[in-house]
Amino acid sequence: MKLNPLVSKLALYDIAGTPGVAADVSHINTRSEVVGFMGEEQLGQALEGSDVVIIPAGVPRKPGMTRDDLFNINAGIVKSLCTAIAKYCPHALVNMISNPVNSTVPIASEVFKKAGTYDEKKLFGVTTLDVVRAKTFYAGKAKVNVAEVNVPVVGGHAGITILPLFSQATPKANLPDEDIKALTKRTQDGGTEVVEAKAGKGSATLSMAYAGAIFADACLKGLNGVPDVVECSFVQSSVTELPFFASKVRLGKNGVEEVLGLGPLSDYEKEGLEALKPELKSSIEKGIKFANQS
Ligand code: LMR
Repeated sequence: MKLNPLVSKLALYDIAGTPGVAADVSHINTRSEVVGFMGEEQLGQALEGSDVVIIPAGVPRKPGMTRDDLFNINAGIVKSLCTAIAKYCPHALVNMISNPVNSTVPIASEVFKKAGTYDEKKLFGVTTLDVVRAKTFYAGKAKVNVAEVNVPVVGGHAGITILPLFSQATPKANLPDEDIKALTKRTQDGGTEVVEAKAGKGSATLSMAYAGAIFADACLKGLNGVPDVVECSFVQSSVTELPFFASKVRLGKNGVEEVLGLGPLSDYEKEGLEALKPELKSSIEKGIKFANQS
């Protein structure tokens, strides 16, 4: 975000260690002013005046864990951060990265509803890393220039709820069915591939930072009135019967300008779509229930 020319002020917040990170990042010779905030007592100052809040907080997976296994710790963290957002910057766009995204986005929506600040146009689950992975893996298999590749990824952000739509991938490559299945599985398991390679030292941070920066840049471009900014994101949706769903979203001056439909699906993708719904539904319900518990 320090490299982004649309950022004027970059407020960094954590429960510990922020002054060092802020000093380090602040030496980069780009436009934004960097300020570090540490500890709960400084959270309000960190958030005040924000146009976009990016939440990557919480604990990462270890090998053998699913994203849902992080729920017990990360749900509470997200809930308290969102409570502060509702108080200090209720109009900010919220980019939710903390896992399980399929549940943390519904948690945020409930917290904001309770506070009377919920605007469905301003809450986003960041699924850009799924798109980034789908593009990379497709380009490798199809032997096309990765810079030219586009692949929509819909559904959610965990295992089979991640549904890459390779039938809509461009440039077209007419890959055989077994390649499409392998690419789909690799995209769905992309996070796990990193978690296993890191062998207990966490999950994707560098590719996630890249993906998070791309998505936040799209939000900032939308806020600045740049036309035709479209990214996939997990948002409140009526594209399916589920209340939240990831699909292409057009971003504008108020956040979500339009949630785009799925477009034509192959039979394999239609099956994937039906298969993901029960898991996604229960993750969404789990988040809603948690937020309304206390
Ligand atoms: C990812 O997709 O890499 C992140 O959601 C982190 C994880 O646990 O997989």
